[in-house]
Amino acid sequence: MSIQDIFESMDYGPAPEAAGEALAWLVDRGDTFGHFINGSWTAPGKGFESSNPATGETLAILSQASADDVDAAVSAARKAQGKWARLSGHERARYLYAIARLVQKHSRLFAVLETLDNGKPIRESRDIDIPLVARHFYYHAGMAQLMEAELPDAEPLGVCGQIIPWNFPLLMLSWKIAPAIAMGNTVVLKPAEYTSLTALLFAEICQEAGLPKGVINIVIGDGAVGEMIVNHPDIDKIAFTGSTSVGRKIREATAGSGKALTLELGGKSPYIVFDDADIESAVEGLVDAIWFNQGQVCCAGSRLLVQEGIADRFYTKLKTRMDGLRIGDPLDKCIDIGAIVDPIQLETITRLVDEHGGEGEVYHANSALPETGCFYRPTLITGLHTSAWLMQEEIFGPVLVGTTFRTPKEAVELANNTRYGLAATVWTENINLALDIAPKLAAGVVWVNATNLFDAAAGFGGVRESGFGREGGWEGLTAYTRPKTKTKALAPISPFAAGKDLAPSDGLDRTAKLFVGGKQARPDGGYMQAIWTRQGGLLGHVGIANRKDVRNAVEAAHKASGWGKTTGHLRAQILYYIAENLSARAKEFADRVDAMTGKRGGHKEVEASIKRLFTYAAWADKYDGQVHGVPIRGVALAMQEPVGVIGALCADETPLLGLISAMAPAMAMGNTSVLVASQPYPLASTDFYQVLETSDVPDGVVNILTGDHAELSRTLSDHLDVDAVWSFSSTDLSADIEKRSAGNLKRTWVNNGQARDWFSTDGEGREFLRQATDVKNVWIPYGE
Ligand code: NAI
Repeated sequence: MSIQDIFESMDYGPAPEAAGEALAWLVDRGDTFGHFINGSWTAPGKGFESSNPATGETLAILSQASADDVDAAVSAARKAQGKWARLSGHERARYLYAIARLVQKHSRLFAVLETLDNGKPIRESRDIDIPLVARHFYYHAGMAQLMEAELPDAEPLGVCGQIIPWNFPLLMLSWKIAPAIAMGNTVVLKPAEYTSLTALLFAEICQEAGLPKGVINIVIGDGAVGEMIVNHPDIDKIAFTGSTSVGRKIREATAGSGKALTLELGGKSPYIVFDDADIESAVEGLVDAIWFNQGQVCCAGSRLLVQEGIADRFYTKLKTRMDGLRIGDPLDKCIDIGAIVDPIQLETITRLVDEHGGEGEVYHANSALPETGCFYRPTLITGLHTSAWLMQEEIFGPVLVGTTFRTPKEAVELANNTRYGLAATVWTENINLALDIAPKLAAGVVWVNATNLFDAAAGFGGVRESGFGREGGWEGLTAYTRPKTKTKALAPISPFAAGKDLAPSDGLDRTAKLFVGGKQARPDGGYMQAIWTRQGGLLGHVGIANRKDVRNAVEAAHKASGWGKTTGHLRAQILYYIAENLSARAKEFADRVDAMTGKRGGHKEVEASIKRLFTYAAWADKYDGQVHGVPIRGVALAMQEPVGVIGALCADETPLLGLISAMAPAMAMGNTSVLVASQPYPLASTDFYQVLETSDVPDGVVNILTGDHAELSRTLSDHLDVDAVWSFSSTDLSADIEKRSAGNLKRTWVNNGQARDWFSTDGEGREFLRQATDVKNVWIPYGE
């Protein structure tokens, strides 16, 4: 046998990790589990089996939580919350630190248990999942420590209901629990029904760490238990990671409840390879992108876009690499691909490829499959139309789809041709190209010449139908805190009744139109509405906008998206200019506000409006991103990006200040907006068109409609091209807006019928800037 023969025929011997300790842990607990509520275990109840997907063997019997169990968990969390929040940040930090240490101490047990339960290769659970879990608790121990000094205006939300998936069971638990408890919240968490075991081991760790009773409660069960948590009236926040379809249901179910919500959903993330890329590395990266965890990764690089000139070479190398991937016993340290989590998921993957693969060319890796267990070969499908089902929908398995592009522009177009926006990978040796492309991609995370990098210091989360909210980093803390403000109810404000005298009180006929695309436009329906003073004098008429007008305004706002690419300096200048022009007409606006509201606050309101424009002119070039210190040779740039088109129902009570308080932060951060003016007092907004027209505001950046808040909010919330809806209306539209937003999972920011003091700092500042931006983390490793 020649040396070459030896090299070519050489194979790995089996190197299984011992499962004894993990199996003994299960046996010690009688292979049955109740729930972890108020610091102790409930007696096991009616339940279901949890099995090892690699062998089909039953690992344990788990209890399905009842409504009483969920109630008990929520009330334990409620009881514990006040005291937990009143501990000093340092005291909470010590508990998080203890948990981190214990995760490390039991890391082998956790890793083996995770692999047995989920089917992921031990290499991944041992070297990626569990170390990241410990890192998350260490990092957030630090956040608890710093909370009082660095977030003095933040307070915890209360009791958080957290629902996690099965693909990274313990890691997702840590992403949810660590920031929540660091900020003084308590938790009711439900792991996925396929993979609850490491969460139960984690509960024991909490006992070992001496965590106060009720701070963390873990209930087990399927989606029905998830629904009970979502619908529980005494929960303040829902955090969910899982499928987009369930995320949408949760958005609808929580609408109007006042519960805070973050959703981390699916994706179809592009993996873009330019022709100057280091091809060997790009192929290796792709293995990590789509075959890490059998492709059951929300941010998997499941859509390969490769530049035409290198496509054949790339596919050939890729297929060779696929054939070399070893599939088998997940406990074997030399295995690349483990088991799919459950026969149901395996059946789904098989069916999707069988049903739709025929539209292209399917290549299954030429690797040996174990005889039993849930295994699926690495698969590549090419030649699909860009609109093909498999190019658009998440498969959530080891299946990659690939297509080619010619130019960087086309790469961006193809990459963004999806309803998702979770992650993207860019592979090129040209840093200029990479940094030009990264901001253009619709994604919450972009990896340059690397993929699937995660760290507690860098926020993770998506845009579009991949959900909203970030987990990790400073940006992740806003998901578990709220500003400390006292709220009071906002009563609906009605317009003054019609008077008898149909002649305008000042003798001038004013019939205000709508402001769309930089032009004054007649309302589509042709209807007008009279506006009266308190005494019954006619002040003027405004148009009543309808659905068509909303659609026109949204279209105009989209056309103006170039605004997001202008510099902060330019946006600041324009905001100052608006302030200057408003100031020149201050008296006129003050009189108008007084006439409409029947009060004498007009002067104060105009002054506050000018000041507010200055505030956001100041912020326009100062709401910087961050450079996160992630533990790689490289950086993660947390960039503040505009959300897109924001629809806002403006405050009724302060007609000018309310409009400007919504418009200015949106503009400052590069968004375009469709603003619905105060319903009872719309005329200050319509006068304001003239200020905008003389202040160099590009057409379509600000569009202003007048009319019925409830009706216009419906169209804005339903509209699939609106990226966020804000409501400060005195008509409480919160429930309807949140429910309708489920269509494209747009971000919402609603007042839940609560008043805001527009004259104080409550009416401006970081909360507005946060709502007007999405953080994109761009990971850039460096070094040769
Ligand atoms: P799923 O979204 O149904 O499950 C995730 C979690 O939500 C589990 O804990 C489940 O019990 C819970 N859940 C299910 N229905 C619920 C409801 N109505 N209310 C509250 N909680 C509920 O995901 P599933 O069925 O396990 O997988 C189906 C597909 O979802 C996968 O093929 C994949 O495409 C996608 N998925 C995406 C994940 C991601 O990280 N983006 C994670 C898991 C699944």
